[in-house]
Amino acid sequence: MTIVFATNNPNKLSEIRQLLGDEFEILSLADIDLEGDIPEDHETLEENAIQKAEYIFSKCELPCFADDTGLEIEALDGRPGVYSARYAGEDCLAENNMAKVLEEMSDVHNRKAAFRTVIALIMNGEIMTFEGKIDGEITREKRGLYGFGYDPIFQPDGHPVTFAEMWVEQKNELSHRGRAVKKLVEFLKENLN
Ligand code: IMP
Repeated sequence: MTIVFATNNPNKLSEIRQLLGDEFEILSLADIDLEGDIPEDHETLEENAIQKAEYIFSKCELPCFADDTGLEIEALDGRPGVYSARYAGEDCLAENNMAKVLEEMSDVHNRKAAFRTVIALIMNGEIMTFEGKIDGEITREKRGLYGFGYDPIFQPDGHPVTFAEMWVEQKNELSHRGRAVKKLVEFLKENLN
C-alpha cells in the first residue's frame, strides 16, 4: 500500500517507515513533487491535521496522513498549543520560543504541561484521527542538549530528566508523537487487506 505523509522531515519519515515495514510505501511531499506551504490556519491541532491531510489528498488523491503537534501548558491556558512553532514570532528559533515560555512562567507555581500530537489519516473516503499525549512539567531552566524544539524545558512525569537529556530512542518510545504513530501503525496493519 502506498501512503503519502505530509512531511519532508527525514526523522519523522524514517521513524514511520521503520515501524510500518515493507508492506507500506511511505512517500514524502518531495516524492510527490509538492512544493510550497501547506495551509494550517485553524485553532486546534485536530483541525490543522485534518486540513493538511485534505489539502494533500486534493493534490494527489492517494491515501495520506498529516500530523500536528503542540505543547499545551495548563497555566497558560493551553498555549503555545497550535502556535508552538512560531510562539515568539514568525521564523523564530526554538531558543526564542523557550525563552518566551520561561519568562511567562517565571512566577508561576503550576508547571503542568503536555505535548500532544494529532495525526489525521484519509483512506478509503474516510478521515480518521489518532492522538498521542504525554504529561509532564515545564522546568525552571533549560537542561540537556539532545532533541529539538521545547525538549530542554519539558520533563515527562515519572522521569528525572528532560526530553533533551534522553537518548532519542528513549524519547521516541514515550513521546506524544511516538504514541500517535503507534496507534496509526496498528490501524494500518489491521486494515492492510
Ligand atoms: P510539528 O507540528 O511537528 O511541526 O510541531 C510544531 C512545533 O512543536 C515544533 O516546531 C516544535 O516547536 C514543537 N514540537 C513538536 N514536537 C516536539 C518535540 O518532540 N519536542 C519538542 N518540541 C516539539
